[in-house]
Amino acid sequence: MINYYIMTIFPDLISSFINHSIIAKSKKNINFEIIDIRTFSDKPHFKTDDIPYGGGSGMIFKPEPVFRAFDYLLENRDLSKNNLEFIFPSPDGKVFKHNDALNLSKKENIIFLCGHYKGIDQRIRDELVDAEYSIGDYVLTGGELPCCIIIDSIVRLVPGVLKNYDSAMTDSFYCDLLDNPHYTRPREYRGFKVPEILFSGNHRKIEKWKLEARKKKTKEIRPEIWEKIKNNY
Ligand code: ADE
Repeated sequence: MINYYIMTIFPDLISSFINHSIIAKSKKNINFEIIDIRTFSDKPHFKTDDIPYGGGSGMIFKPEPVFRAFDYLLENRDLSKNNLEFIFPSPDGKVFKHNDALNLSKKENIIFLCGHYKGIDQRIRDELVDAEYSIGDYVLTGGELPCCIIIDSIVRLVPGVLKNYDSAMTDSFYCDLLDNPHYTRPREYRGFKVPEILFSGNHRKIEKWKLEARKKKTKEIRPEIWEKIKNNY
């Protein structure tokens, strides 16, 4: 069984996500546990933030509730620093890529820390966090959405979660190229037709058409990716 532990001050945001759709179905392979960081605070009103030393604007996530939540998991779950990965979604992190999702989909235990405020106390990063990932070059108000996005991308790569695992394997980025266009019934809609080749029954030709469509789209939309991989095609 794979275990994902999500530390957050907004447990409802995470639970509504994991109780829906494919993620909910993945519960037969993956055990999700939401840890409400506030319950590890010993301050009045379960406070988890404080002013920054050295001045500056914004509040900082205090270290104690996060360290205590971490200790709680180590003591009460079958976890040690050796069998677990601690992920912190952050705009300062390395940009999260398909390959990172693939690597994380092979991990048995992952802790996700959803950040808030101006930042988190650096000691959390130094002592607990193994990897920081940004989901893109923009800043969100908290780590819950990035965390859900990262989990969503990982979960679908865990064997047995998706009914059609092959479908994940032909996604955009699985082999660097963006995905080809897809069509379903009806054959003609408001005068817009599905390309004839898809009805030809000639699988070799159809595969070639798909590959050409992927190359064309990658060249147009992500020229920087195309430059790196064009010699493979
Ligand atoms: N938290 C706030 N913004 C973020 C981003 N772009 N990626 C990951 N975590 C974040």
